[in-house]
Amino acid sequence: MASMLPLLLALFSLLSAALALQSDLAGVADWHKALIGVPHLTPSPPTFVPLDGAHATIMITEEDMLAVLNGNGSLRWRQEVPDVLSYKVHNDAVVVLSGTLGTNTRLYDLESGRLRWEVTTGDASAKLDWRLPEGTRGMGSDIAFHDEHVFILSEARRITKIKLSDGTSPWGWEFPGDGSTNLFKQIVVNGDELNVLGVLSSLSVPTLTHLTFNAERIMPISEMSHVPAGLGDPTNGYLLAPRGEYRQPGLRGCWAEESRYRCTDLYSDGTVNERIKDHIAGTGRRYERMIDVGLREHGFMLGLLKSGAVLVVEVGDGGHVVAEFDRSRQHRNGMPVHSGAYHDGVFTFTRVYYNHDDKAWKMQMISVRDGNVEQTEEAVPLDARHGIPRSCASAPDGSLFLATSTRALQLSRAGEVLFTREEALADIAGVHFVELGEPETEEALGLMAHESFVARLTRHIGMLGRLPAYVQHFVQRLSSTADIAGQTPPLSKDRLHRDQFGLQKLIVAVTNGGKVYGLDSANGGVLWSRNLGFFDQKGPELAVYGTWATRALGDRGNPQIAVLAVRTRGGKQVTMGYTVDAFTGDVAGEKEGGHDVPVGKGLFAGAPRAAFLTKYIHCCTGNTIVGVVDDKDTLHLFPKCKKVQREIEVAPFFYTVLDRELEGTSLRGYTPGEAEEGITFPGVQLWSRPFPVQEVLDVSPLHPSPVASFGRALGDKAVLYKYLNPHLLVVTSVSPFSATGHVYVVDSTTGASVHEVDIPHVVGKHVRAAMVENWLVYAWLESPTSAGAGGWRIASVELYERGAQSAGRSSLAPPPTIEAVTQSFVLGTDVAALTFTTSKYGVATKDVLYITDAGQVAHLPRRLLDPRRPTSKPTKAEQEEMLVPYDPVLPLSAQHIISHIYPAKGLRAIAASPALLESTTLVLAYGLDLFGSRALQPSGNFDILGTGFAKTSLLLTLAALGAGVAVAAPAVRRKQLSAKWF
Ligand SMILES: *[C@@H]1O[C@H](CO)[C@@H](O)[C@H](O)[C@H]1NC(C)=O
Repeated sequence: MASMLPLLLALFSLLSAALALQSDLAGVADWHKALIGVPHLTPSPPTFVPLDGAHATIMITEEDMLAVLNGNGSLRWRQEVPDVLSYKVHNDAVVVLSGTLGTNTRLYDLESGRLRWEVTTGDASAKLDWRLPEGTRGMGSDIAFHDEHVFILSEARRITKIKLSDGTSPWGWEFPGDGSTNLFKQIVVNGDELNVLGVLSSLSVPTLTHLTFNAERIMPISEMSHVPAGLGDPTNGYLLAPRGEYRQPGLRGCWAEESRYRCTDLYSDGTVNERIKDHIAGTGRRYERMIDVGLREHGFMLGLLKSGAVLVVEVGDGGHVVAEFDRSRQHRNGMPVHSGAYHDGVFTFTRVYYNHDDKAWKMQMISVRDGNVEQTEEAVPLDARHGIPRSCASAPDGSLFLATSTRALQLSRAGEVLFTREEALADIAGVHFVELGEPETEEALGLMAHESFVARLTRHIGMLGRLPAYVQHFVQRLSSTADIAGQTPPLSKDRLHRDQFGLQKLIVAVTNGGKVYGLDSANGGVLWSRNLGFFDQKGPELAVYGTWATRALGDRGNPQIAVLAVRTRGGKQVTMGYTVDAFTGDVAGEKEGGHDVPVGKGLFAGAPRAAFLTKYIHCCTGNTIVGVVDDKDTLHLFPKCKKVQREIEVAPFFYTVLDRELEGTSLRGYTPGEAEEGITFPGVQLWSRPFPVQEVLDVSPLHPSPVASFGRALGDKAVLYKYLNPHLLVVTSVSPFSATGHVYVVDSTTGASVHEVDIPHVVGKHVRAAMVENWLVYAWLESPTSAGAGGWRIASVELYERGAQSAGRSSLAPPPTIEAVTQSFVLGTDVAALTFTTSKYGVATKDVLYITDAGQVAHLPRRLLDPRRPTSKPTKAEQEEMLVPYDPVLPLSAQHIISHIYPAKGLRAIAASPALLESTTLVLAYGLDLFGSRALQPSGNFDILGTGFAKTSLLLTLAALGAGVAVAAPAVRRKQLSAKWF
């Protein structure tokens, strides 16, 4: 047999080369999904804007984006606005306020998103010392337009007039004194006057104030007047400008007080009509509050009654109810959201609510034109998996835009959904690449399930007929150059199998709120999505704690993902476990009655302290079991398994828990104690390791990777043995008082440090680390010192065992002496997250992948990070090892940016997964946007043929070798047989 081995090996290597992909097809396969996140609802909810004769939607989001969506849901443009607060559209531009108190004003071109100017007004660090109801946004800032100018109210005390065309600021005015008792909250332009409504806090209850300015010169033209109003809290109280017939004498100040709403006339000479007009909703009906739907400048607001009824109220000569939303009085009809719009002389008021009788979402619209009121109602096509509406916007043609509790954005018209954007993808907690099956098996399984013998025979004979065509196709595929171009057609529910090279996988992405997606790794397309819990108007009931891939594709069925989440329902917290089928999104177990939401498995009350994947396999399902530690240090298994309980009793394991307590943070090692009722285990503490006066940033296990070699061959033929210990944890922390960063490599079985680094002059919490095999890489931001200018640094450490060699050693044996080889470098960019490329067999070089703060995904070749790069002239041995001479600065060129052309934003995490091709790593970076690539080749394309490769001669060689094997095999067998006789 031995004599045949080289021949077989040669054959094998040629075959695998022939199956490989051509290099000119690689490197083009990446994608980017630009997301915007969840819209802010106050003080500026999403609205429609006419663009190119269609309805575009504009919004600001919790991810600090100002964005415009086209009518088909595509992103027209987005701009990052840090601390974005509110916006207002004016003709072809949009004015945006940002900063806590609106101290920054920007003007963007509505069509293109181009920034025309930016002005800072006042002190960005100023704070309001007012107690405001939770969730109040935008208090003390406002926007009002006047001809060629915009007025900005900021800091609750400063008024600035800015020229729209160029951002020059001709006038400004500031409330005299410290202003701590008077808070300006709204401004309205009325003719040539600018009116300001404020709240005065010096009295026992806040009351309203009013001040009129000359709009030209921003000079007060009156004394500040006081409105005797009992507000309750400062968010109550509005400044309204009635329209047309009610224009005299000008403005009204309105507020809700004692179940009624009250208005008074405000005069520009600084006086207030002493006669306050009460508006009572009617016999036995009382106001709960007023709802501002953005039509205050036209004198309209909505009034919500205690009964739930919603009225359209016009403030004219007193209050005047224009209309009441039909059925809004019925308690059973719940969860309403409201909006208002003005277009071409028509005011529209929209209410979207759930109609329990019809079990459907309805849109009610009240239109007011010249005193004529019309009311319509129609069904809203909102799929239950998108949760419930949190905000709506409507256009006169009946287009309805909804932002929902599951972070979906949807546009519909006349019962038809025009687009749905899944913005929950901007909130991913964890992702898993899932390997797909072979196409043949899948199809064959489906066929064989119901096929009679005769049918199978006929099919086989039929297939035999196709054999020559198949052989011809096979040869063609290998010998032609352009045939494999259609590598990865998009996955679909019916086509869930892998391509020839495993370049396409399914990505299961789990969001923080418990929404799960199946994504196509080749294009980011959504194959399925599932809600693990309910979402109400305030948000999700689940908070995802962790996710693990617990089963790969195999005899037991589809791959599975375990999700652990804390559910808060009725004020009670329960830790829940879910098992999700990666191919379909189906969740094991029952569904909540009448809903497509799984019941899940309740594990214990309260939140987990730690959770991790164990090495045990569940006896029935074949899923790897997740260990979960509750706050009483009890270990739970998910799913539970009697057999595994016995296995644990016989051969226990170790796990760690990070304790963040007031006295300080400690890492503790545990082993399960004797099993208790219900298959739980008390934790038996083995060791504890405090991190005194440090803030622990992260504890992470080794990056998973198959070990292809146990040592590193040197140029002089000597071997350095890698320190390989699967139980290592990497702990990063900072000592805030000494600005020192720390990186510890800890053996989780003993708590002992295998390696420790102290990093001086660290800025804030900027320390990141990752480790694979024996290679630790950490990056930090250094403050400027006398020695240097500061900036990001990256260090590379390899741990070797001195002298002895050992491929496998008990983790309980005394630790070997460890030698660390370290080198550090200056890095030109920030490091937001750090990981390694990975390959199927661990043979291909492991490079570092990281995210820069500019949102790019960058790639650092291992060659450059090699800690053994010679600092002096390379010796002969070092040359032989092909080491690059040391240079303290790592060059980062365009070719290292793998997200190259894409304007990716907000990437925070990065995941890598091997393809079937050893050379290729699949990458997904997520955060706000998603970026995916399937063409990262750390070691170059060593297993990929160039286009110039002479495939025909390769085929001929293969044929010849194959014939050789066929001839030689019987002879070898005879020889071996005879050898056995002696
Ligand atoms: C969506 O609409 C915009 C402009 O209205 C257009 O440029 C874009 O190509 C459209 N996208 C798709 C996928 O139809």
